[in-house]
Amino acid sequence: MALSSMYTDTTVQRRNDTAGRMQPMNLSEIFQRAELIDELGLVEQLLLDRTHSTSALLSASGAYTVAAGGKRLRAGLVLLAARFGAYDFERASHPAVAIELLHTASLIHDDLVDNAGQRRGRTTVHSRWDKDVALMLGDYLFAVAANELANEPDPRIIGFYVQAVQTMVEGELNPVTQLAPLDVALGQYYRKIGAKTAILFEAACKCGIAVTGGTPEQIEALGRFGYDFGLAFQIVDDVLDFIGDELLLGKPAGNDLREGTLTLPLIYAVSDSTTPILNELARTARPDPLRIPQIIAAVRAAGGDASALFEARNLIERAKSHLTIFPPSATRRTLAELGEFVLNRHQ
Ligand code: FPP
Ligand code: MG
Repeated sequence: MALSSMYTDTTVQRRNDTAGRMQPMNLSEIFQRAELIDELGLVEQLLLDRTHSTSALLSASGAYTVAAGGKRLRAGLVLLAARFGAYDFERASHPAVAIELLHTASLIHDDLVDNAGQRRGRTTVHSRWDKDVALMLGDYLFAVAANELANEPDPRIIGFYVQAVQTMVEGELNPVTQLAPLDVALGQYYRKIGAKTAILFEAACKCGIAVTGGTPEQIEALGRFGYDFGLAFQIVDDVLDFIGDELLLGKPAGNDLREGTLTLPLIYAVSDSTTPILNELARTARPDPLRIPQIIAAVRAAGGDASALFEARNLIERAKSHLTIFPPSATRRTLAELGEFVLNRHQ
């Protein structure tokens, strides 16, 4: 059987030639097969171009941040969602650039708020320069992102963008404060990750289909896909904080616990375990920094990481189910492959 014919709309594995095992594709293979590499290259150039400023400090720190790269998953989603409509790269490139710039701005501010020293294997902006530069660069990129949408004739696009910004800011200030009881902890957790992460994936997908003439029903379906995809993405991010390799992550593992950020692996571990250290946590919800390695080991022993990953897989399945209003296509298959990538990623 030809390799290409092994794929159906929902089959996203490929054959590993050497060991004969089925392996998920990595991100560049997915983008390559979807013929997105050249367009994402152009988006990358546009991102760098948009960091130019009359302020040498902003130009330098902006170029430094964009050059650190990133998965460009959100830009990819904008372009893929646009393919469900009357595809026009020039038109779709603007929200692709805007969404990536907004994402970049939010991470610069988030690193400042979290006092994080490393991002994408590099020193963070506030550590390399100072907090004023980080604050201003985030604001600047955030404005440049809005400007990217200024010539877009469909007013819904700026609406999706604004809704994402407002919700992300609200999410950043909306902590998970308790690990038990489980329903309260889960409610707080999903509210938080929905606001800080999933909303931007939703906006990416909605902008993509809207700029290429999507119907309200199509925009709704892709928005739901993006939201569930984004929830799964964040859950995996939170799992990697417990099981990830620092070199691959480009930031220290265990950071969430050190910062007192309570995430799904910990919530599940606490609910399922009778381990004393987790019982103690359920009452205080504030880990003692010296006991971080012990807590990570207890969470893994209790299967908190596995339960969270199971949940992420269910969300990717639900995300894909929203796309059934569209006939099977290469683009639907690519979105399914991206879901598989999210579940299997190490960084
Ligand atoms: C990373 O979360 C942060 C986000 C996903 C969004 C942060 C949002 C803001 C700072 C508000 C929006 C700002 C602007 C300029 C619109 P994390 O800390 O859990 O992940 P990390 O480990 O990668 O830092
Ligand atoms: Mg952070």
